[in-house]
Amino acid sequence: MNVPEHIEALADMLTASGELTDPAWRAALHAVPRHRFVPPVAWANPYNAPGFRIDGGQRPHEWLSAAYADQPIITQLDDGATEIGGEGDYTSSLSAPGVVLEFLELLDPYEGDRVLEIGTGSGWTAALLAYRVGDENVTSVEIDPDLLARAAANLEGAGYSPRLVLGDGAEGWQEGAPYDRVHVTAGVSQVPYSWIEQTRPGGVIVFPWMPEFEPGHKVRLIVGDDGTATGRFVGGTRYMMLRNQRTPTAPTHEGPYRERSSVLDPRRILRSGYGADVAIAGCLPHVSMVFEPGPPFEGWLWTGDSGAHVVGPDVRQFGERDLWDELEAAFFRWVKWGQPERGRFGMTVTPDGQQVWLDSPDNPISL
Ligand SMILES: C[S@@+](CC[C@H](N)C(=O)[O-])C[C@H]1O[C@@H](n2cnc3c(N)ncnc32)[C@H](O)[C@@H]1O
Repeated sequence: MNVPEHIEALADMLTASGELTDPAWRAALHAVPRHRFVPPVAWANPYNAPGFRIDGGQRPHEWLSAAYADQPIITQLDDGATEIGGEGDYTSSLSAPGVVLEFLELLDPYEGDRVLEIGTGSGWTAALLAYRVGDENVTSVEIDPDLLARAAANLEGAGYSPRLVLGDGAEGWQEGAPYDRVHVTAGVSQVPYSWIEQTRPGGVIVFPWMPEFEPGHKVRLIVGDDGTATGRFVGGTRYMMLRNQRTPTAPTHEGPYRERSSVLDPRRILRSGYGADVAIAGCLPHVSMVFEPGPPFEGWLWTGDSGAHVVGPDVRQFGERDLWDELEAAFFRWVKWGQPERGRFGMTVTPDGQQVWLDSPDNPISL
């Protein structure tokens, strides 16, 4: 297959899956060939473990096919400290085309809109945006200088020239404000208020909300005329986190525990669906949670110096807070609310922080 045939096949696949509905984005896929943003050596299909190394020099057909498959391509490990092919944390990627398109359709920029992208990565999304709204209207912020240099070269090679900024995207980029749209392409647990301040009233902010409790959720906020932004959860997603919002590691604990048996079968936590996930994450802000389905089920919860460890039905808690008790309380709240699904929840961001709500912003949830 040649490149246009690859793009057409990909676009057909994404149309069939419902991730691509707007013909303007189909045209953008053709105008901004994804393979121009794939490095010669990268790691393809990583979430279908273990994925595989692609090498454009040695196996060009495989490399090109990977560029036009609906899969992420990892382009950096451990912030660049580990070579591609080694063991490491994924720290930059070309997200899967379906995920990129779903977010772009959610962003839905008008011609000439001023767009801020956070997380330039390879530059592919910035180029797609530049094709739609014009180079002069796109600003993209990347925290990693090597990645930004590579993105600049990719963009030049593909014939696009959005403004590229080296910096911490959590601060937005004040010099280019106000923006009509903000597109965050890294996981966010706490929404920085700078993004709301830098977006004009009526503007849209889309991002993957990755609370410290997996999995993630797509969020679309609209900025109000009162300095707040509000919107709903519109589906699931999974992203690598903003560097400064990566999940902290669990504290070690040497002292005594408070022990009991769980009231709730802990496996319910992983099997109750995304509505329960949002309810728990919304009721327990800043609490990190990791669960292994097992058997036996094993879970860790922690925040500050409090923690809980659960193996099967056995709960051990330490610190000021009884985090497993709190999680059970959040779960049973969700049950009492009628087990609402994810789409009934939303989020409001104000200068004081963010708040998850059920059905309406005037119904915030908490324990
Ligand atoms: C999933 S990749 C983005 C993919 C990119 N949009 C593309 O089209 O290739 C996430 C990117 O966010 C960057 N990033 C992480 N934390 C950041 C921060 N605080 N500010 C700006 N960029 C950040 C990472 O270095 C990484 O390149």
